[in-house]
Formats: sequence, structure tokens, C-alpha cells
Amino acid sequence: MMIHGSKFIQLLVYLIGLQCMEFSLSGAIRCMDNLSQNNFYYNPIPDFIGSLQYIEYLNLSNANFRGPIPSSLGNLSHLESLDLSGNEYSSLRAENLNWVYGLSFLKVLDLSGADLSNVEDWLDAINMLNSLVELSLFYCKLQKLPQYLHPVNFTSLQILDLSHNTFHSTIPDWLFEIGHSLVYLNLSSCQLQGLIPDAFGNMTSLTSLDLSRNDLEGPIPLTLGMFEKESQLNKSSSLRELYLSNNQLNGSLEQSLVHLSQLVALDVAGNKLEGNITEAHLKKFSRLRVLDLSSNQLVLNVSSSWIPPFQLETIGLGSCLLGPKFPQWLRSQNNFSSIDISNSSIADVVPNWFWNLSSRIRYMNLSFNGLKGSVPDFSSQLQLSIPDCWKYGRNLVILNLANNGLSGQIPNSIGRLINLKTLRLDNNNLSGEVTSSLKNCIDLRVLTLANNRLWGNILAWIGDNLQNLMILKLRSNTFSGRIPSQMCHLQNLKILDLALNNLSGAIPRCVFSGMNSAWFEPDTLSLTVRHKEYEYSNVLFLIKLLDLSSNNLSGEIPKEVMTLDGLLILNLSRNHLVGPIPPNTGEMGSLESLDLSRNHLSCTMPASMASLTFLNYLDVSHNNLSGEIPRGGQLNTFDDSSYMENPQLCGIPLSKICSSDELIEDPYCSNENGDGENQGIQKEGHDGFKIPSFYLSRGLGFIAGFWGLWGSLILNRSWRHTYFRFLGNMTDKIYVIVVVGAAKLQRKFQRQQTPPK
Ligand SMILES: *[C@@H]1O[C@H](CO)[C@@H](O)[C@H](O)[C@H]1NC(C)=O
Ligand SMILES: *[C@@H]1O[C@H](CO)[C@@H](O)[C@H](O)[C@H]1NC(C)=O
Ligand SMILES: *[C@@H]1O[C@H](CO)[C@@H](O)[C@H](O)[C@H]1NC(C)=O
Ligand SMILES: *[C@@H]1O[C@H](CO)[C@@H](O)[C@H](O)[C@H]1NC(C)=O
Ligand SMILES: *[C@@H]1O[C@H](CO)[C@@H](O)[C@H](O)[C@H]1NC(C)=O
Ligand SMILES: *[C@@H]1O[C@H](CO)[C@@H](O)[C@H](O)[C@H]1NC(C)=O
Ligand SMILES: *[C@@H]1O[C@H](CO)[C@@H](O)[C@H](O)[C@H]1NC(C)=O
Ligand SMILES: *[C@@H]1O[C@H](CO)[C@@H](O)[C@H](O)[C@H]1NC(C)=O
Ligand SMILES: *[C@@H]1O[C@H](CO)[C@@H](O)[C@H](O)[C@H]1NC(C)=O
Ligand SMILES: *[C@@H]1O[C@H](CO)[C@@H](O)[C@H](O)[C@H]1NC(C)=O
Ligand SMILES: *[C@@H]1O[C@H](CO)[C@@H](O)[C@H](O)[C@H]1NC(C)=O
Ligand SMILES: *[C@@H]1O[C@H](CO)[C@@H](O)[C@H](O)[C@H]1NC(C)=O
Repeated sequence: MMIHGSKFIQLLVYLIGLQCMEFSLSGAIRCMDNLSQNNFYYNPIPDFIGSLQYIEYLNLSNANFRGPIPSSLGNLSHLESLDLSGNEYSSLRAENLNWVYGLSFLKVLDLSGADLSNVEDWLDAINMLNSLVELSLFYCKLQKLPQYLHPVNFTSLQILDLSHNTFHSTIPDWLFEIGHSLVYLNLSSCQLQGLIPDAFGNMTSLTSLDLSRNDLEGPIPLTLGMFEKESQLNKSSSLRELYLSNNQLNGSLEQSLVHLSQLVALDVAGNKLEGNITEAHLKKFSRLRVLDLSSNQLVLNVSSSWIPPFQLETIGLGSCLLGPKFPQWLRSQNNFSSIDISNSSIADVVPNWFWNLSSRIRYMNLSFNGLKGSVPDFSSQLQLSIPDCWKYGRNLVILNLANNGLSGQIPNSIGRLINLKTLRLDNNNLSGEVTSSLKNCIDLRVLTLANNRLWGNILAWIGDNLQNLMILKLRSNTFSGRIPSQMCHLQNLKILDLALNNLSGAIPRCVFSGMNSAWFEPDTLSLTVRHKEYEYSNVLFLIKLLDLSSNNLSGEIPKEVMTLDGLLILNLSRNHLVGPIPPNTGEMGSLESLDLSRNHLSCTMPASMASLTFLNYLDVSHNNLSGEIPRGGQLNTFDDSSYMENPQLCGIPLSKICSSDELIEDPYCSNENGDGENQGIQKEGHDGFKIPSFYLSRGLGFIAGFWGLWGSLILNRSWRHTYFRFLGNMTDKIYVIVVVGAAKLQRKFQRQQTPPK
């Protein structure tokens, strides 16, 4: 039934008058309705809902309610199930949970997403609910996880989800008092500390345990999965799913494996576990479907003839030692949708059978190995008309073969992978012209072909066809031709790196439109900033880069390029650019790194550049700039190496003092170089500090972190210059801070389609 905000009262009438009567006619007084998935346009839950006193089931999930949770809900003394989850994150809130005291029949309580940050004694309130079977309080901003609770009243609890809260405590003892009833326990992303207690071994009904994304340390307890359920006919542990990824667990995985062979899903990725896993350790794992051992210190040493007892759907062995031979046992796995064997020391040719993919394949990461041979030729696979060959590759969404030793050409048939969103072939020895069949892959968001020996005039068809591109990295090849204006129409482009090629002609006079807007794409990518390669992960939405350096580009820098307000990194160095630095350069309020060195730029530097508050790297050296370096911003705090080899340039930090006869006549300088000189200073705050709009659009979580760490430095004028000097040597640390902030933000986004305002 579709109900809108204004009809809410009628609905209640309907509920009381109709539903309850129907039920009462049939004997029992039982009211049921399902209000979920209706849109209440952000109205509060009305207080008078408490008058539905005989209702047993109330489901107000996903209904866009907002405001306080009415304590009159406590009058619904017959309630068995209350679900208020899925309303916009934190839009419902409660100051206390005292009202649940009246709900003594409650079996299911789901308040996920509601803001309970002020409810200190939430557990005491829950403890009044003797009949509780299912409790979900994820994303509730809970901050306190009491360590002691006595007696524990909710001894029938089967499902407990407290994930995504910030407890900062150890795993409490009272959990184990409900160990015989608990079936599902989710404490992921709770900032839990300390060891995983041995007592988990006593949780005799537990089938699914998720402790991932915490700060837990020490070993995986040997008791886990050890419990043997005595029944007349068999003995087995109930545990089927174990998620322990992204903690600080250490010790030997081999020993723990002994008791975990009944598992269907084992995910211990991102810990410090050690071990030398052989086929003997895995021989009993016949039910296993999800195996993720990535990013530990593990060796998987099996013989080439091993046939595993399992058929995996997810294979996560990134950064395990698998090589140097390509793992032959993968041949037996023909149902996986995701495989990560990156960085696993494989130095071998990928065997042909490997490309006989299942129809379910979506994600493939073989990067950071020493793979040899060529990129697989999809067409030859198709010509065999073996039905399960590369035609199933069409389902592939992510193909990452970067950082290997692959050689030869990119085959035409790659254009048949029409669902590809990410294709990464960078850092190989690929050569030849890039096949234009790639233009069929119109879903591509990420295309990286950097550091190969590829050539061709490919930008025109890329601009015309790959409209969804967000990242295009063609750095360090021999691509030629002009940068066509079509490139500017890629509405989503955030990273354009065309450096170190043979591109010629002028930079198009247009705005690279995507670079002005905010974005978010969780992935990792290495970017070259200031001559260093950085690996960015989960942070790409902060990086906006335009790098056209080391080509043969000529003409003036179009002032359109300088209107990219969100741009962080701009590198046009080592070309043949002439004319002035555009006067509106100061408008790029977020710019952190600007390199215009080794061109033939002339005229005075625009005064607006003094307002580039975030600039921590500047190089305009080896040009023909003249006049005084603009005073007043941190332009004067860079080394003189930022400005050297501009014979006519003077002022701080250069030793050359300006005198009035420095100004020279230059035909380029007369026209444009006056208009809008001071534009960039308009948005200055009270301290002369320009608040960059880019950061302000990041959402509160990031701003809080950002200002907390840097705010005092930035807002204090006298510290600022010191700070920016210091920043110049600190790029790594800055990004560590940003990565942490962004990773937190990302977790919020994962559950919540609408990010917190
Ligand atoms: C509630 O209604 C929604 C859509 O109107 C439906 O998808 C859902 O299955 C219903 N839930 C129950 C418990 O009846
Ligand atoms: C409430 O309804 C949603 C679907 O609308 C359903 O997924 C959820 O399980 C229901 N909650 C309860 C406790 O039945
Ligand atoms: C809840 O019950 C109390 C008495 O038990 C009554 O005073 C109050 O009005 C009721 N609230 C609602 C919203 O029905
Ligand atoms: C346990 O529940 C009973 C009511 O059934 C209540 O009287 C008691 O206070 C509860 N215990 C705790 C520790 O809250
Ligand atoms: C635990 O909760 C998190 C987020 O709330 C979710 O992503 C994860 O899938 C859950 N784990 C299990 C095993 O259901
Ligand atoms: C597990 O349960 C047994 C028997 O109930 C008990 O003796 C043992 O101490 C428990 N282990 C832990 C670690 O709590
Ligand atoms: C063996 O134990 C499992 C798990 O406890 C149970 O589901 C299964 O029914 C048992 N099999 C027999 C034959 O008793
Ligand atoms: C595991 O880490 C702890 C510190 O968290 C350390 O004391 C212990 O020695 C480590 N154990 C192993 C086996 O490395
Ligand atoms: C792994 O185990 C094999 C077989 O037991 C052994 O030969 C090898 O030396 C071990 N490797 C490491 C790194 O411990
Ligand atoms: C793997 O095991 C074999 C013997 O089983 C051993 O010779 C080899 O060194 C092991 N490799 C690694 C990487 O441990
Ligand atoms: C590759 O694995 C090694 C350890 O085996 C690790 O130190 C390194 O960070 C990993 N590199 C990448 C790119 O994952
Ligand atoms: C392949 O995976 C799917 C999806 O999980 C599963 O339903 C199916 O049973 C698997 N097939 C085989 C042969 O294991």
C-alpha cells in the first residue's frame, strides 16, 4: 500500500479500525501492518503511535522518518517486533531507551542507523527484554560497551549485530553467557581492542562470527571452531563463517586451521598472521567457498598436482607467497567470481587454461607479479568455440594485469569485454598501437596503460566513446597527436595523466569538466606526484590531477585550465608553452602542487597566485618570467629553486632585488594580464585564509578530522608560514592523514546511500 505523509492519520485509523477488528473477529487480538518502504517525507514518528496498544508487529524501516523516537512506543506492551532501521543515517534519535522497559514480549528490536550517542545505559535497558531473540544496533553511534552485566536477562538472543559503533573497548565477558544461544554475532568496525577471548570456543550455536575491521591483536584462539557438538550420530562445530580481516592478529595460521575445516567462509585478510600452509592443512576444507588470506605473511606451498577439496567462489591470496610457478591448482577452480593473486611472487607465463573463466567472473587482480607472455587474446579463445571460454570474460568488470612483464600488443579482442569498468595494464612491456576496439568498452571508468611502449593517436576516440572515464593514465609511452577538445567533454574525468609522450599542438581552450566536481571511487592507484610514485588507496576522491608534462605541447596556457577549482595537482612542465601564467591561476583554491617549469612562459606572475593557500609545491623555474614574485602569500616561502633560471624575475626568495626598470615589453603581456588579477582573493576569510570549497564539500567527518589536526596551525597567521614550509617536506604524512579520514568516511558511505549531511 502506498501511503504519503499527509495520509498518516488515515492510515492509523485504518490500522486500528480494520486490521485489528479483522484479527479480533478471528479470536486473537493481533494487529499487524507493514508501514516500511513508504515515504514519510522526513516527518517524525507521531507520538500517538503509542495508542496502538495491541499491536504486535511494527515495522517503520526505510520510511524516511526523522526526529526523536517517541517514548510512547513503550505503551505498545504487546509488541513482539519493532523495526525502525534503514531511515536516513542518524535522522532518528533517542535520548534514552527507558521506554523499552514496557516491551516485555519483544523478540526483535532493530534500531540500526538511529543516533543513540547519548544513551549511555543502552545495555541496561536492553537487559529488561527477557524474550529478545534478535538485536540490531548497527551504525547507532554507540560509544559504550559495558564490560560487565549481571545477570544477563536476554538469554535467548540468537542474532546480535552491533557493528559500526565506536566502543574502544575489549570484547566483554557477558557475551559468553549467551554463548549457547547466539547464532550470529557481528562486531565488525567497532574499534575493539585486545585479544579474541578463548571463550568463543564455548559458543556452541554460533554459525557466523564477524570481528573484522577492529584493532584486535594476538593469535586466532585455538578454541575457535574446536567445539564439538555431541549428537548421537556425529560431532561437528557449528561455525561456518569467520571474518577476522583487518585487525592486528599475529601468530601462526596453520595451527588455527586445524579446527576450522568446517568453514564455508574464512577471511583473515589484512593481519600479521604467519604460516606455511601446505595441502595437508587444507585437505579437510571441503565446504570452503570464500577464502581470503591476503596481506599477511603467509606462504601457500602446495604441489603442482594438488586438487583442492573445495570449489571457491572468492579467491583472495594477494601478497601471499604463491610463486614462482603459476599455481596449477587454480585449474580445478571453475566457479569463482573474484580472484586476487596480486603481489604473490609469480614469475611465470599465465597458462591458457586460466583464461577459461566461469560465467561468474567479475574481478581479477593479477598485478604486481612477474607474469610473462602476452595479454590473453580473447578472440582466439572464442574461435575455439569452447562455450565456457572468453565469451564469459564478457562479465569481467575489473581486469588488473598491471606491474608484470607482459609483452606484445594489446589484442583486438579485448574490446569484447564490454562490461569492463577497470582495465589496468600499466608497468608492463606492451608495445604497438593501442587497439581502437577498446572504444566498445563504453563502461570503462579506469584505464591505465602507463609505462609501456604503446603508441598511436588514441585521444580522439577515447574522448568520443569512453564517456564514463574517471581515470586515464597513459603516462610514459609514445602516444602522439593533439589533445582534442573532445577530451574536455568527459564529464567524469578526475585524473588525466598524459605525461612523457609525444603529444603536440596546443592545450584545448576548454574546461576539463569532470575535474571541478566531487567524486568518490574506492580503489587503489599509484600516481606520480613531484617525481615520486605514490600508491593511493581509498582516497582517490581527494586526488584530482592534470599532468601533461614532458610532451611537445605549444601555445599559451588557456585560462580555462585555471578554472578547475577542485584540482589538486597541475603539471604542465617540460613543454614548449609560451605567454603568461593565466591571471586567474589563483582561482584554483585547492591546488597543492603546481609545476610549470621548463617552458617559455613570460610576463609577470599573476598576483592572484598569492592566494593559493594550499600550495605546498611550486616550480616555475626555467622560463622567461619577469618582474616581482607576488608578495604576501606563501609564494615567498618556497626555495629559490622554485623560481631559478628566470633571468628577469626578482623579489623574495630570490636574491635579486626588484627595481623599477625590470619591467620589459613583451607582446604577450599587454592584453590579458590585467583582467581579474585579484579574483582569487575574493573568498578570503577573516585571517586572510581562504577556505577551500573543495574541502568543505567533503562532509562533516572529514572536516572534523581535518580541522582537528590542522585547524589550529592554519588559522593562526603567525604559524602559517612555518607550516607551509614544513608541509613541503611532508607529502607522505599529509596523505596518511587524509587516507585515515577517507577510510572512515568510506565505511560510512558503504551502508548509507545518502551520506550524512
Ligand atoms: C513490507 O512491504 C514491502 C513493500 O511494500 C515488502 O517488500 C515487504 O516484503 C513487506 N514486509 C513484510 C514483513 O511483510
Ligand atoms: C521490515 O520490513 C523490511 C522490508 O520492508 C524487511 O526487510 C525487514 O525484515 C522487516 N523487519 C522485520 C523485523 O520483520
Ligand atoms: C501511554 O500510557 C500512559 C499510561 O500508562 C498514558 O498516560 C499515556 O498517555 C500513553 N501514551 C500514549 C501516547 O498513548
Ligand atoms: C532482568 O529482568 C527482570 C524482569 O524480568 C528485571 O526485574 C531485572 O531487573 C532484570 N535484570 C537486570 C539486571 O536488569
Ligand atoms: C557485519 O556487518 C557489516 C556492516 O554492518 C556487514 O558489512 C557485514 O557483511 C556483516 N557481516 C556478516 C557476516 O554478515
Ligand atoms: C567453556 O565451558 C567449559 C564448560 O562449560 C568451562 O569449563 C570453560 O571454562 C569454558 N571456557 C572458557 C574459555 O570460558
Ligand atoms: C550432524 O550435525 C549437524 C550439525 O550439528 C546436524 O545439522 C546434522 O543434522 C547432524 N547429522 C546427523 C546425521 O545427525
Ligand atoms: C603478537 O603481537 C604481540 C603484541 O601485540 C606480541 O607481544 C607477541 O609476541 C606477538 N606474537 C607473535 C607470535 O608474533
Ligand atoms: C614450508 O614447508 C615446507 C614443507 O614442510 C618446507 O620445505 C619449507 O621450507 C617451508 N617454508 C618456509 C618458508 O617455512
Ligand atoms: C615448498 O615446499 C618444498 C618441499 O615440500 C620446499 O622444497 C620449498 O622450499 C617450499 N617453498 C617455500 C616457498 O616454502
Ligand atoms: C607485496 O607484499 C609484500 C610482502 O609480501 C608487502 O610488503 C608489500 O607491501 C606488498 N606490495 C603491494 C603493492 O601490495
Ligand atoms: C557456483 O557458485 C554459485 C554461487 O554461489 C553456487 O550457487 C553454485 O552452487 C556453485 N556451483 C558449483 C558447481 O559449485
